[in-house]
Amino acid sequence: MSVALLGTGLLGSAIGQRLLEQGESVNAWNRHRERMRPLAALGATTCADPATAVLASDWVITVLSDGAVTRSVLERCGLVGRPGAQASGGMETGGTGTGDGHGRVVLQMGTIAPSESRELAVAITGTGNAYLEVPVLGSRPEALAGTLQVMAAGPEALFQEALPLLRLLGAEPQLLGPVGSALETKLALNQLIASLTHAFSLSLHLVRRSGVEVERFMDLLRASALYAPTFDKKLKRMLEDEYSDPNFPTAHLRKDLELFLAAARARGLGTSGLEGLAQLLAAAAGTELDGLDYSALHRLTARGEAMDR
Ligand SMILES: NC(=O)c1ccc[n+]([C@@H]2O[C@H](COP(=O)([O-])OP(=O)(O)OC[C@H]3O[C@@H](n4cnc5c(N)ncnc54)[C@H](OP(=O)(O)O)[C@@H]3O)[C@@H](O)[C@H]2O)c1
Repeated sequence: MSVALLGTGLLGSAIGQRLLEQGESVNAWNRHRERMRPLAALGATTCADPATAVLASDWVITVLSDGAVTRSVLERCGLVGRPGAQASGGMETGGTGTGDGHGRVVLQMGTIAPSESRELAVAITGTGNAYLEVPVLGSRPEALAGTLQVMAAGPEALFQEALPLLRLLGAEPQLLGPVGSALETKLALNQLIASLTHAFSLSLHLVRRSGVEVERFMDLLRASALYAPTFDKKLKRMLEDEYSDPNFPTAHLRKDLELFLAAARARGLGTSGLEGLAQLLAAAAGTELDGLDYSALHRLTARGEAMDR
């Protein structure tokens, strides 16, 4: 199988490495070329533009930061019609296609809004190509080990076709329903990342300020029904105030929480309890926290004034 990998950031580069190690041929493209170097060293072909990568491949995997970027990169490849190339009647179809008459399957792995994903599905199908929404739970270590939790949404036949490729990234890919449903599930899971980390952070600060030994608190917590493994995973970073070398940075957690809030509001849910956390994370925007591991939100909960900025 030949795969065009569009986006070789933190997650994309790990996915690319896994595919190469499993014997697949990878045609990579990334906006900043230097970020493709590790994959090139492992045997990937690096491409000067995304269209070249797509033309050389049967499959297209996108692992880009957000919905707008994903759409604009797919437009550059002819997989999404450009606004100027719309068919008459206002349909968002009629793009130029890749030009070689050979349909591609786009596997969209970034965490974007479910509504953006639905629009992509229509636009990509309209250019004679196919779209499967495939967000993943897990980060670089899981991608490298092939143990991502792979969620999919789209046509059953397309999912079956993509399964051999998806199984290289995670053993049991799950088809969850029509396009949008896998991303809503992914956002539901990432809301838990944000909320659990926030809840633990606040409790940890209070315990430390009370003078009680952290290990006494952790023993009680670990023995209780309240415990979540992510607490121990982030404890060391929080105690040492050390958030460098992230697999998943604070900026992405904020993005995902905002996407969750929009999706939950659209479903008529009461989100006011979560708005404060989004406000707290907004205080990280444009600061060094954005590029650090998301557990750096522990620095925000340490400051009583964080919400007032
Ligand atoms: N990291 C994880 O653990 C993880 C897990 C699950 C899902 N995700 C999702 O996967 C996606 C990628 O995450 P990541 O962690 O790999 O992020 P990242 O390291 O920040 O990579 C972002 C990617 O998007 C590209 N990009 C950003 N702005 C662009 C633009 N204007 N034009 C073209 N390319 C642009 C970046 O290119 P440059 O390198 O040139 O900036 C890079 O390839 C996100 O949606 C994230 O939420 C991440």
